Amino acid sequence: MRASISRASSRVWPLVAVLLVALSLPAPAQQPPRVQPPGTGVMTQSWESLRKDGIHDPRGPAVKDKQEPSEALSKLTPDTTGNMVRWVQALEKGEINPRASIRPGTKIQIYDSDVLLNVQGGMPIVRFPHRQHTEWLDCTNCHDHLFKAQAGANKLSMLEILKGEQCGVCHGAVSFPLTECFRCHSVARPGQSQQTTPLISIPGGARAQPR
Ligand code: HEC
Ligand code: HEC
Ligand code: HEC
Repeated sequence: MRASISRASSRVWPLVAVLLVALSLPAPAQQPPRVQPPGTGVMTQSWESLRKDGIHDPRGPAVKDKQEPSEALSKLTPDTTGNMVRWVQALEKGEINPRASIRPGTKIQIYDSDVLLNVQGGMPIVRFPHRQHTEWLDCTNCHDHLFKAQAGANKLSMLEILKGEQCGVCHGAVSFPLTECFRCHSVARPGQSQQTTPLISIPGGARAQPR
């Protein structure tokens, strides 16, 4: 599993690099979030200091010049998992305004089309929203090396996703973790009740992914 995740991470590195420059923050998935143990009250957002995150050199001269994650991220719409920011909402509310590219003149193409996946399955239907993705990503981040641009043309599987392939190239690595079942399985089938709370609740879900 470790091998497949790190292979996945290397594939999304260009994306991480763009986010890094755009937000002038360390890569989201690399900040280990800290949450209170369950049952001790409200989950609070808190982040490891750069000096203690195991990534930055605490004795290095640059560490004091960098913005602390807690200072930057605590102002954004909170999440209960991952790196504790609800990024789609932060963008929609204008809390952040990332540059589309470091190359001037890059054209952004927003594609507003939802695709329903696992139409035959037992879990609630997966609604894949293009709009939210193309506000962060370019078509070529997914087409066609991850997915053919044709509804139903890809053999998607939860097992592959959990192994860090398909949606799992990003989810659980740089975007919200796979423990958030119902953010993807968001459309109830007839007779199913709408679910929002995670099936499995692990504090700091991003770190609890199989690795
Ligand atoms: C990043 C999005 C995403 C997340 C998060 C996610 N899934 Fe899935 N899941 C999918 C996709 C896409 C498929 C599509 C498979 C298909 O076409 O059959 C799928 C398929 C499945 C299937 C087989 C089809 C079905 O409906 O019976 C099961 C079971 C499943 N997921 C369970 C889960 C559980 C449990 C979780 C949380 C621990 C979870 N999934 C989280 C995207 C996701
Ligand atoms: C995050 C990954 C991702 C990105 C980015 C992405 N797509 Fe897709 N696209 C998908 C997935 C997943 C499907 C569904 C494939 C399936 O049903 O098997 C899909 C399906 C499609 C389809 C067929 C279904 C439909 O909506 O008509 C078209 C066309 C398409 N994409 C175009 C685009 C264009 C144009 C862009 C860029 C503006 C884009 N996609 C960006 C993942 C992505
Ligand atoms: C190339 C990277 C990438 C791939 C592949 C990818 N996603 Fe995402 N996804 C993102 C990013 C980035 C976001 C926005 C940040 C976040 O919510 O963590 C996002 C957000 C979402 C959202 C949240 C939308 C909202 O309104 O909150 C859903 C649902 C989602 N993805 C489902 C999927 C499914 C299902 C697949 C596979 C079919 C998939 N994604 C594949 C990168 C990706």
